[in-house]
Amino acid sequence: MPQSPSAFKSLLATKLWLVALKYLCFIGMNPKQRAAEAALSYVKDGMVVGLGTGSTADFFLEALGTAITSGKLRDIRGVPTSKYSELRAQKLGITTATLAQCPSPDITIDGADEVDPNLELIKGAGGALLREKMVAQNSRKLVIIVDSSKVVQKLGQRYALPVEVAIFGYQVHEAFFRSLGAQPMLRVEKPSGHPFVTDNGNYIYDCRFTQIDQPHNVESKMKSRAGIIETGLFLGLAGEVLIGGEDKVLTLKRNL
Ligand code: 5RP
Repeated sequence: MPQSPSAFKSLLATKLWLVALKYLCFIGMNPKQRAAEAALSYVKDGMVVGLGTGSTADFFLEALGTAITSGKLRDIRGVPTSKYSELRAQKLGITTATLAQCPSPDITIDGADEVDPNLELIKGAGGALLREKMVAQNSRKLVIIVDSSKVVQKLGQRYALPVEVAIFGYQVHEAFFRSLGAQPMLRVEKPSGHPFVTDNGNYIYDCRFTQIDQPHNVESKMKSRAGIIETGLFLGLAGEVLIGGEDKVLTLKRNL
């Protein structure tokens, strides 16, 4: 405690200034960053954290790295969902582990392309859907961080559904996707025009639906076909969704 009233006043003024500065930074934040920073409160000392992929997940990696290097969080291990996130995490001072080494992460924090009112998701615009889904399915809790542009009434309304396929005979899936009502587009790299190859050595078809009325049906039909490795439908997985807005974060929880 400061000894004199003037020292006390100056300490109070400094504290008020720091609070105001924090508030101003919060107001100036990108909504994705606001959601990502809010997700940090879910992480506690000693946890294994699944690390998502994408620009929103990247804001979370930065916040987590800062919390670790400043000593605010201790004994954290991250399980990355892509080679990119692994490199980013290591650069930011986050100790990484594989899913095999840490098979049940306490929590996974990841972004999404679409979120519907039942907290069902489309993911995979960043191409990491297979590892993201494996890490999410094996985690005790999945917390999704998005901005409000990702909220839709029906899945498929805004984004195409990414589907990861084996390279062998991949063209045969096109007619199958059409039979489900989708327009498939093989994902290509720009500017080369070569097919995009995932971290797992596969291709991706982006399947554009008008909307997906029965996501469970689409999921089971696609997953029953040889050569289709994974879809970007994340059904029944998200426990909470944090939606970053202009000056606050809205939390949606799954009804159990
Ligand atoms: C990557 C993903 C991403 O989480 C999703 O595409 C959202 O990305 P962003 O946060 O950049 O909007 O599923 O495979």
